[in-house]
Amino acid sequence: MDIKLAVVKGDGIGPEIVTEAEKVLDRIGELYGHTFVYTDILAGGCAIDATGVPLPEESVEIALQSDSVLLGAVGGPKWDGLPGSMRPEKALLGLRSKLGLFANVRPAKLYRALADACPLKPEISENGIDLVIVRELTGGLYFGERGRKDGGELGEVAFDELEYSKMEIERIGRVAFELARKRRKKVTSVDKANVIETSRLWRETMHALSKEYEDVEFEDMLVDNCAMQLVRNPAQFDVIVTENMFGDILSDEASMTTGSIGMLPSSSLGSTTRGMYEPIHGSAPDIAGQNKANPIATILSCAMMLRDSFDLTAEAVAIENAVAQVLNEGWRTSDIMDENGKLLGTREMGDKIIEYLK
Ligand code: NAD
Ligand code: IPM
Ligand code: MN
Repeated sequence: MDIKLAVVKGDGIGPEIVTEAEKVLDRIGELYGHTFVYTDILAGGCAIDATGVPLPEESVEIALQSDSVLLGAVGGPKWDGLPGSMRPEKALLGLRSKLGLFANVRPAKLYRALADACPLKPEISENGIDLVIVRELTGGLYFGERGRKDGGELGEVAFDELEYSKMEIERIGRVAFELARKRRKKVTSVDKANVIETSRLWRETMHALSKEYEDVEFEDMLVDNCAMQLVRNPAQFDVIVTENMFGDILSDEASMTTGSIGMLPSSSLGSTTRGMYEPIHGSAPDIAGQNKANPIATILSCAMMLRDSFDLTAEAVAIENAVAQVLNEGWRTSDIMDENGKLLGTREMGDKIIEYLK
């Protein structure tokens, strides 16, 4: 198979982790007879520096002409002073919305070998952590009207609109129920229906949809309770479906129960097979350029890409098995290091995973 990828290396640790992911894909190509052709596109802080805007039109066009997008991370302190519409993060939101990627899937799985890196007590983690957060990605607070009430940039009253339509809720709900059918058949819909009107529509819509999936166990949960339950008893969750901002926050929380945010991959899909694949973490400015970043989240995102966009299951499993084996053998980056671990840098972790690929 010939696969055309648009690649956003981005800022901070972005270029370091994407380089390792490309190395892994290239090895998969050699082993299974595929060719990956990468076209780097500018987005984020590096795009602002080079062109003055976070998401040049050309980048969107190339992304739309590609089979999928691989993204490292964008943003960093250098660009924090810019107005909202000119920030690096705006590039990410632009790509998500222009590619129509409304369904963001973030699996949080604790590898047996990383039990010591999990901050929860063994009696909690040994029940297993294997859940998926299905996050709505093109609506909600991220895409509503916002501004200062004086119309400028200095007013002392600000607002951000939160809007959801039944259509948007139903289509993300379907993704969650369908996914649950392939897993342990349980969906937890997370909202704030005790306060927020969009959440009441969310709950109403999810309840109606659940009637079409009688084989899937369904419950709803308030978001504050969910944040607590994720550390009290994460084994209770299979698929969590929630709106854009709740999903952002809960997925960072869930990631830590797997040892590190450097472990969590994600896929973002819409109504076509063209997806965007990225780790859930950011550009980690505190460790950028030091060969310290964990590339596993990005590498596992490539496994998700092979499975979800290209139906290359054996190739995806090969990557996932290689990662599991490397961890079983005690190889660690510093974020998941434990007393018996053998420390590797970003590049060396990429090389080690390639060594175990079959
Ligand atoms: P972050 O995820 O970048 O970092 C939080 C902490 O986790 C840091 O201590 C960092 O060193 C650590 N960390 C993150 N990824 C790691 C990895 N692969 N290996 C080891 N440690 C890792 O979050 P932040 O510091 O809040 O944000 C930094 C910048 O990244 C901000 O500009 C933010 O907007 C941006 N951001 C971008 C994305 C994205 O591009 N998808 C996602 C989140 C944040
Ligand atoms: C993520 C990030 C982004 C988000 C930011 C950088 C816009 O935190 O992908 O989780 O909030 O969606
Ligand atoms: Mn986030």
